[in-house]
Amino acid sequence: MKKGAKTKNRLIRRLAMNCGWLGAVLLSLTAWAKPEFHPGEVWLDTNGDPIQAYGGGILVHSNVYYWYGEDRTPGGRGAVACYFSTNLYDWKREGVALSRETLPQIDGRPTFVERPKVLFNPRTGKFVMWLHLEQPGYHYARAGIATSDKPAGPFTFLKAIRPITAQYGFADNDPDHQRESGGTVRDLNLFRDDDGRAYVFYASEDNWTMYVVRLNDEFTGPETPAMEDKTWARILVRRMREAPAPFKSKGRYYLITSACTGWKPNEADCAVAGNVLGPYQSRGNPCTGPEAETTFGSQSTFVLPVQPGKFIFMADRWNPRRLSDSRPVWLPLILRPDDSCAIPWQDRWELSVFDAREKPADKSSTSVSGEISPKKKRLGMRLRVFSKTYRMRHLCCLILMAGFFFPVLSAPAGARENRQFLSDWRFKQGDARGAERPDYDAADWQPVSLPHNWGWEHPGSGSVPSIVVFLALSFPFSRKEFL
Ligand code: GAL
Repeated sequence: MKKGAKTKNRLIRRLAMNCGWLGAVLLSLTAWAKPEFHPGEVWLDTNGDPIQAYGGGILVHSNVYYWYGEDRTPGGRGAVACYFSTNLYDWKREGVALSRETLPQIDGRPTFVERPKVLFNPRTGKFVMWLHLEQPGYHYARAGIATSDKPAGPFTFLKAIRPITAQYGFADNDPDHQRESGGTVRDLNLFRDDDGRAYVFYASEDNWTMYVVRLNDEFTGPETPAMEDKTWARILVRRMREAPAPFKSKGRYYLITSACTGWKPNEADCAVAGNVLGPYQSRGNPCTGPEAETTFGSQSTFVLPVQPGKFIFMADRWNPRRLSDSRPVWLPLILRPDDSCAIPWQDRWELSVFDAREKPADKSSTSVSGEISPKKKRLGMRLRVFSKTYRMRHLCCLILMAGFFFPVLSAPAGARENRQFLSDWRFKQGDARGAERPDYDAADWQPVSLPHNWGWEHPGSGSVPSIVVFLALSFPFSRKEFL
């Protein structure tokens, strides 16, 4: 091939590569770096670790969202982890809110935590956590209560209770009698009403019937004396529902629940009532779209009010073989005029679906019924391009990754084949920009022992992204054509 033609080919190749680079970066900017929710996918915290907050719930306090949930970090010391955010997209791990060491041993056996939820009590200034405290076998079935002076903890474990108890003359952990004994507590949730009174919803009577119980002034136990249908009620009687996620809109109380099939997903139900203590009327499965009959392969855990009448449905896609690898599923929840609610599946979505221009209803410290205007403060540096916001760390990662992979993928097929280098071949390390000059061949090159009437240069060498390649690889190498 003539020298001129070769140079032209090389130029064309470099031009094509640079266009490829630019295209890849722009594509990724629009498709990947955009803040979005990706239901059912791994969700990384601001440290780049998967968020460990399963069966969790969110507290809104002083315009900050706190996400509490089961910390399933393998080998970790956390029973409950806490993350915080001001925009609902970026979550920074605050650490362990409740540690495993602080949990009680019962009959010499350890306990574990599921479905923790936290409320702030303005009267006492304490953050109060309720959780399902359990032992292997799931017959301990009690509510654990812990408090803290700070939202992120550390929480101090106070006690384990069954808020409503009945005396039937048999052991309260007797598996054969839990249905009748009335007091078991398993999946639970907290709800604070507009009047400031708080309630715990939980699967009781061995999960056959759900209870809703008003809490005392400190939120640390049931209101006493407990009076059925006045301070507490049996709801969804004998329906075998669990994973309660209560919320309120326009004076109506909604309760999303799942059926009881362990870690296996099943069909959700949304029930509605005019009174927090019920009676609740089922309005059927709110989920629509693929896998709607299994709640999109997940199980309800919480409903977060975002704007008046607008909510995020939170659920867990459990991975029973590796619970630490379960996935959060967050979806927008729509209330219909006929009192029913709808949770349509979305592969990805943004908060703008809620029309953030609406005024937040309450900016003070609230939980469950509290809302803040998302996107107020931002964690980490962000870059605004064409009115979209991109996280700087994503951009950097992206550019480094592209620097690493793109040259290899974009190399012409022949060149890639030629990368089957042999051990006794030698290459010149460094910048190949001077490759056109005659003295380039003279420096540093070592002859190879095979016929070598071909050549390969690192595709990034000599082009603009070669700096990035250099940063990513630290050793761009090149091999010049031998004739
Ligand atoms: C589910 C429950 C989970 C967990 C699981 C254990 O029914 O919702 O929180 O307890 O059972 O099998």
